[in-house]
Amino acid sequence: MSKVRKKKLNVNGETFVLYLSEKQIQQRLKQLATKISKDYNGRIPIFIGVLNGAFVFMSDLIRHMTISCEVDFLKLSSYGDAKISSGKVTMLKELNCQVEGRDIIVVEDIIDSGLSIDFMRRLVSKMNPRSINVVALLYKKKAIKIHTPVKYIGFKIPNKFVIGYGLDYQQQQRNLRGVYCLENEKEV
Ligand code: IMP
Ligand code: MG
Repeated sequence: MSKVRKKKLNVNGETFVLYLSEKQIQQRLKQLATKISKDYNGRIPIFIGVLNGAFVFMSDLIRHMTISCEVDFLKLSSYGDAKISSGKVTMLKELNCQVEGRDIIVVEDIIDSGLSIDFMRRLVSKMNPRSINVVALLYKKKAIKIHTPVKYIGFKIPNKFVIGYGLDYQQQQRNLRGVYCLENEKEV
């Protein structure tokens, strides 16, 4: 079986197990896209993906959309290569689209502490959008330090380190088709 579809993986000596399959993810994305398409009927929203993690999720999500939409990306850094958030957010790539008067949907791979998405929401809000909402594939409820509204959530997950489907471990494993979590990691 191809590495990107395996149930168990060894990454740098650590074992990761399949948590969300490709099928589960695609089914949920279809539901999310249907809901978003309905909510934004008559509008042309701009999806703003947070690089690098959101690019896989965003590309699948917009292909399930049934209304017109635009895309742009911005890049923040907060994690470095560690498994725990450094707590500091910096901007590495700015937006190129005109946000003023537009309906913005910020796309995140995962909300952990909530720090990055809070930073993004403030940043985009300053550009006077008509509306702003957030869609996140994963949401670690127990890890949230800053509460910021997330309108569309793919899956609420335990407070464990996950990889795959855009999410990296030391910049690798983003190409896995499912989401994997560390085997035997205790939820913190
Ligand atoms: P936050 O600012 O703490 O909410 O972290 C958000 C960012 O940290 C996400 O966009 C991810 O890039 C990264 N991140 C958080 N948790 C994980 C994880 O379990 N695996 C991989 N990356 C993660
Ligand atoms: Mg990210």
